[in-house]
Amino acid sequence: NGFFTFDPGFMSTASCESKITFIDGDEGILLHRGYPIEQLAVSSDYIETCYLLLNGELPTPAQKAEFAQAIKDNSNVDQSVVNVIKSFKRDTHPMAILCSAVAALAGVYHAEIDITNAESRKLTAYRLIGQMPTLSAMVYKHRKGEEFIAPDTSLGYAENYLHMTFGKAGEAPNVSQTLAKAMDRIFVLHADHEQNASTSTVRLSGSSGTNPFAAIAAGISTLWGPSHGGANEAVLEMLEEIGSVENIESCVARAKDKTSGFRLMGFGHRVYKNFDPRAKVMKQTCDEVLGELGLENSPLLAIAKRLEQIALEDPYFISKKLYPNVDFYSGIILKAIEIPTEMFTVIFALGRAVGWYSHWDEMVSTSYKIGRPRQLYTGSVKRDYPAK
Ligand code: CMC
Repeated sequence: NGFFTFDPGFMSTASCESKITFIDGDEGILLHRGYPIEQLAVSSDYIETCYLLLNGELPTPAQKAEFAQAIKDNSNVDQSVVNVIKSFKRDTHPMAILCSAVAALAGVYHAEIDITNAESRKLTAYRLIGQMPTLSAMVYKHRKGEEFIAPDTSLGYAENYLHMTFGKAGEAPNVSQTLAKAMDRIFVLHADHEQNASTSTVRLSGSSGTNPFAAIAAGISTLWGPSHGGANEAVLEMLEEIGSVENIESCVARAKDKTSGFRLMGFGHRVYKNFDPRAKVMKQTCDEVLGELGLENSPLLAIAKRLEQIALEDPYFISKKLYPNVDFYSGIILKAIEIPTEMFTVIFALGRAVGWYSHWDEMVSTSYKIGRPRQLYTGSVKRDYPAK
């Protein structure tokens, strides 16, 4: 007792064994259940990727159809949770509302959840994946003061999300297939990323045996921070602040100046020291989507591309192995889809929900211990309370 490995930020501590996702940070490799992210992003879709992450294998067409239907059947949100969302002031940050809404789901389903029962866990997965788009769209609508749109089970997953977000009450769905495809790919690219801060939070929280929706609400809180998922929002704010290509050099200089407290948002990663394979696909998707929308001359895209080029040639970024990460180009796509900047991290959470759940499910379906890190105590030695 008293001798521990001191590893701040868990730079070299494996907290669990997992069969879900493999990352080789030096080579820029990301595999889900063995399949490269580049192939999944192009050839699979979000629903199939969810099935893969949860079950370990790609589904047959019949399994995929059944899975997709189960998710649709569980996409309606209980009125008590709708009321929670409606209780927020309209200018509340979307992540605060989403976090509370998912925590509220813990209350709705608490009596029904049996974490030792595989069927109960399966139903919980359907409920989570089914309701995340509904909740996310409600968050958007509530902030705009618009009527909520019910899920439409005739639509695909991303298409339905865009319909609930941008549709108008009483009007038939009218979602562009280009945008639905781009949104679906963004969800695939965010689906899982092994033991990042939010997933580790979900595992640690879940290791106490708590309700999985409560554990995932904790993960959403962690994702919100600008060092993690909140970076996508910060990237767009940064690009807008730069405003024109002439201002890039001074932004890069500021990021290199340690006293500025400023970092180049969307750059750097704890694990990737070569490149982030998700960022490559995201950049390609960004070009495709903006091209299809006739926005290829977007000033933001021009700033992002030049910024990336300057940073990649700069000795500071080269020596520290800082490359664009998944958040660097995603915001430009989301902006083209007309998603407001403050909703970007909600989109990340929506895509990541399956990853969080898969890790929680993997943990509780095998033998696990409550997570309980130790510390190096640096406080006062024992002393007596002053006599009165
Ligand atoms: N701009 C300028 N300098 C940077 C940056 C950056 N974006 N990222 C790291 N550095 C420097 C940092 O100052 C440090 O320098 P030194 O060794 O001289 O002290 C060195 O690079 C290593 O940085 P670190 O903070 O020790 O590395 P980390 O692994 O703890 O942090 C990170 C990783 C992603 C938090 C960090 O790179 C960062 O803050 N990036 C900007 C925010 C961002 O884009 N986050 C999204 C991450 S990917 C998606 C996700 O996980 O949600």
